[in-house]
Amino acid sequence: MPVIAVIGAQWGDEGKGKIVDLLAEKADVVVRFSGGDNAGHTVLNPLGEFKLHLVPSGIFSPRAVALIGNGVVVNPKVLIEEMDKLAASKVDISRLLVSDRAHLIMPYHLLLDRLEEKARGGKAIGTTGKGIGPAFADKVARCGIRAGDLLDREYFWERLSNVAEQKNNIITRVFGETPLSVDDIYSQYCRYAERLAPHIRDILPVLSAAMGRDDVILLEGAQGTMLDPDFGTYPYTTSSSPTGGGGCLGSGLGATCIKSILGVYKAYCTRVGGGPLPTELHDETGKMIRELAHEYGTTTGRARRCGWFDAVAARFSARINGFTGVAITRLDVFDTFPEMKICVGYRLDGQTIDYFPSSVAALEKCQPVYEEFPGWQSPTVDIRQYDRLPAAARRYLERIEGLIGSPIRLVSVGKERDQTIIKKPVY
Ligand code: IMP
Repeated sequence: MPVIAVIGAQWGDEGKGKIVDLLAEKADVVVRFSGGDNAGHTVLNPLGEFKLHLVPSGIFSPRAVALIGNGVVVNPKVLIEEMDKLAASKVDISRLLVSDRAHLIMPYHLLLDRLEEKARGGKAIGTTGKGIGPAFADKVARCGIRAGDLLDREYFWERLSNVAEQKNNIITRVFGETPLSVDDIYSQYCRYAERLAPHIRDILPVLSAAMGRDDVILLEGAQGTMLDPDFGTYPYTTSSSPTGGGGCLGSGLGATCIKSILGVYKAYCTRVGGGPLPTELHDETGKMIRELAHEYGTTTGRARRCGWFDAVAARFSARINGFTGVAITRLDVFDTFPEMKICVGYRLDGQTIDYFPSSVAALEKCQPVYEEFPGWQSPTVDIRQYDRLPAAARRYLERIEGLIGSPIRLVSVGKERDQTIIKKPVY
């Protein structure tokens, strides 16, 4: 029962999409388990270029079933648009299933995400504006609406009319905005229901059958561990758990089912939105990383903040997840660099610490302690064997591996699928 989870180990955008695409080739089932359409990655294949936000990458493999798990919040409009684009490119979308337990993003979630961010002023989280936080808040507050609710019109109306009235009270009385029309939402979501009904079901029997056949199941992570609402830089986090543990909760697979948890790290760090990034570079080097690596968001187009590899955060993330191995992506970005740095500790209130503080107030005071590494200044983009990497590149990677405490299995040296060095098998 090889269940493999691919997990973002930093602040998201680690290049998980490419690793998932690579592994999805051999997978029978691919499951998204957290987040929503705040995630995004671009898939390049013979059928074209696709920007996926919700549909799991397994959709491109002719034999794999693509599941959207209960842990995802689904904006039906976005999902239908994505499905239409895929179908127009002759991708078979009949293998896409959405858990009836997955919560829906409703129009008031989108509006409240924007209004709440505005109200935060200078302390804004920098959310993607996709309604993710408000939708997860409603799930926990037990006033969410689930995909399965769409299949029973009467029950859907009962839920919606109650919740929407409460939301309109907040929209008008707290924010002074115009209320949303509950009838419009109802008819709009009934249209979505017609389109999505063949895809919505209890996915647990599908997973159980796959487990029984010893199928390869791939858990496709979204966002990154440092955005986890419990362990990330709270409150500058997302609202569902992007970790290996989140993979169990968001799919219905038991913790003992997971055989391999692959943590994906970039060879440096990036972050979008607000919140601490201890190794952030505000200088020319930061700009150089951003331009060389084209560090702009797939979902929002925002420029990503860039910094040196933070091994303190990286080790913390490896522990939270229990990684059985790691993938290091975008090593080639450093091909022209004369030197790189790795943060091995923080200076906090006159002391050197090697742990990741839980409080944002402390993190904002942390000054990175760096080790310096000479660059290799030669192209790695055509290298496919680990031993062929320049000695300086191997030294850099092996120091990272030692600091994280988990073996490097894959190294990515370019965006094409084959620009990958397999050092050790993933499972
Ligand atoms: P939300 O998930 O839209 O509520 O955004 C909360 C925080 O998570 C913001 O800082 C976002 O920029 C960040 N975030 C959400 N999704 C992603 C992602 O896929 N990659 C990187 N950052 C993300």
